[in-house]
Amino acid sequence: MNFTGKNILVIGASTGIGLATARQLHASGATLFTASRQLSAELAALGTSHLTYDATQPVGSTFDGLPEVLHGLVYCPGSIKLRPFERVPVADFRSDFELNVLGAVQALQATIKRLKKAEGGHRWCCSARWPRPWA
Ligand SMILES: NC(=O)c1ccc[n+]([C@@H]2O[C@H](COP(=O)([O-])OP(=O)(O)OC[C@H]3O[C@@H](n4cnc5c(N)ncnc54)[C@H](OP(=O)(O)O)[C@@H]3O)[C@@H](O)[C@H]2O)c1
Repeated sequence: MNFTGKNILVIGASTGIGLATARQLHASGATLFTASRQLSAELAALGTSHLTYDATQPVGSTFDGLPEVLHGLVYCPGSIKLRPFERVPVADFRSDFELNVLGAVQALQATIKRLKKAEGGHRWCCSARWPRPWA
C-alpha cells in the first residue's frame, strides 16, 4: 500500500510491533511522527519526527506540533501479564488498564480533531489487549 502524502502518528514505535509498523509505513512513503518515552537507535535510524511522550501522563502540549491533518494513528504501548488470571494482582490490572486502555483513549482524544480532517476518512488501531479470565 502506498502511504505517500499521509501523516501517520505511531505511539510506541521505539521497539517491537510499533517499530515494525513504523518501518513498514516509512518504506511505504508515509510522513511519520512517533511518540514514546525513549527514542531507540533503530527508530532514530528512520529519521522520523519523534515526540517524547509517556502515555500514562497527561498529554499537555506534546502533540501541538503535529500537522493539522492526521491520516492515521497507531497505538502500540502495552503490557501483558502471562500468568494465570488468579495470580495477577489487582494493582497490575489497574496499571495495565491505565496503559493499554486509558492511554489509547487519551491519545485518540488528543488527536481526533486532526484525524477527522483527513479526506477519505482516517484509520486508527491499537495493539494492546486485555487478559481474559478464560485464557
Ligand atoms: N509481541 C507480540 O507478539 C504481541 C502480540 C499481541 C499483542 N501484543 C501487545 O502489543 C503491545 C506491544 O507489544 P510489543 O511486543 O511491541 O511491546 P514492546 O516491544 O515492549 O513495545 C512497546 C512500545 O511502547 C512504548 N511504551 C511502553 N510504555 C509506554 C508509555 N508509558 N508511554 C509511551 N510509550 C510507551 C515503548 O517505548 P518506550 O519504552 O520508549 O516508551 C515501546 O516503543 C503489548 O500490549 C502486547 O501485549 C504483543
